[in-house]
Amino acid sequence: LDNSAANPFEIAKQAAASIAELTGVANHDIALTLGSGWAKAADLIGETVATVDAAQIVGFSAPAVQGHVATIRSIKLPSGKHALVLGARTHYYEGHGVRRVAHGVRTAAATGAKTMILTNGAGGIKETWKPGTPVLISDHINLTADSPLEGAKFVDLTDLYSKRLRELARTVDASLDEGVYCQFRGPHYETPAEVQMAKHIGGHIVGMSTSLEAIAAREAGMEILGLSLITNLAAGIQKEPLSHAEVLQAGKDAESRISALLAQIVAKI
Ligand code: 6GU
Repeated sequence: LDNSAANPFEIAKQAAASIAELTGVANHDIALTLGSGWAKAADLIGETVATVDAAQIVGFSAPAVQGHVATIRSIKLPSGKHALVLGARTHYYEGHGVRRVAHGVRTAAATGAKTMILTNGAGGIKETWKPGTPVLISDHINLTADSPLEGAKFVDLTDLYSKRLRELARTVDASLDEGVYCQFRGPHYETPAEVQMAKHIGGHIVGMSTSLEAIAAREAGMEILGLSLITNLAAGIQKEPLSHAEVLQAGKDAESRISALLAQIVAKI
């Protein structure tokens, strides 16, 4: 993927072929990227058919962040559908480039997945959101100034986060709120002034992932559901300084509840 002459879609195809071989599942229907707080969903959505170490698959690198698991699982849902679960993602802030950021999504698409569920742990701008609140992503503002698309690819991003899937999620939990996700580069958290900027331009959630992946998923023709776990309020909205330990702890505390919610949503897709 680091060789600009190589075709990232060919590498995704190779990765998908390895996954088919190692899991014995030729095609997957749906894919999930499980971010902080969401990992337990993998145990709840169905029967794990196979677990593969992501490092064995071309294009995947070891995770940089504690709390992210570098495994790829093939799970058979009660409906008989097959889900591909990516237990880790490459973050843009790791500096390995957009190709690595998009590779998980592109590999999922190459395995046949038509639905991409992107989850993350993020900061909340709305004061009514307590840590531990799951929120549907309604749209995003990509503040990385980058794109996973190369060359003159003019992809439409209207309804990027499927209205149909958001409505389906609300049939599971009618109280699910939604908001606009602002992707910052990170890995530092935002300053209070940056959080105010995000608020003024229409953002409700601040994070370091998902937007670039959603763009790649749209390019691949997938239908996208985005979910953020609010692990903390953003800088300046909460009075206390932010810490990664706090983010991880909030994820742990919410994990059983939001993973069960996600499993119920997946069962309806
Ligand atoms: Cl406040 N900001 C960002 N960018 N990511 C986060 C976060 C905040 N809280 C958890 N993840």
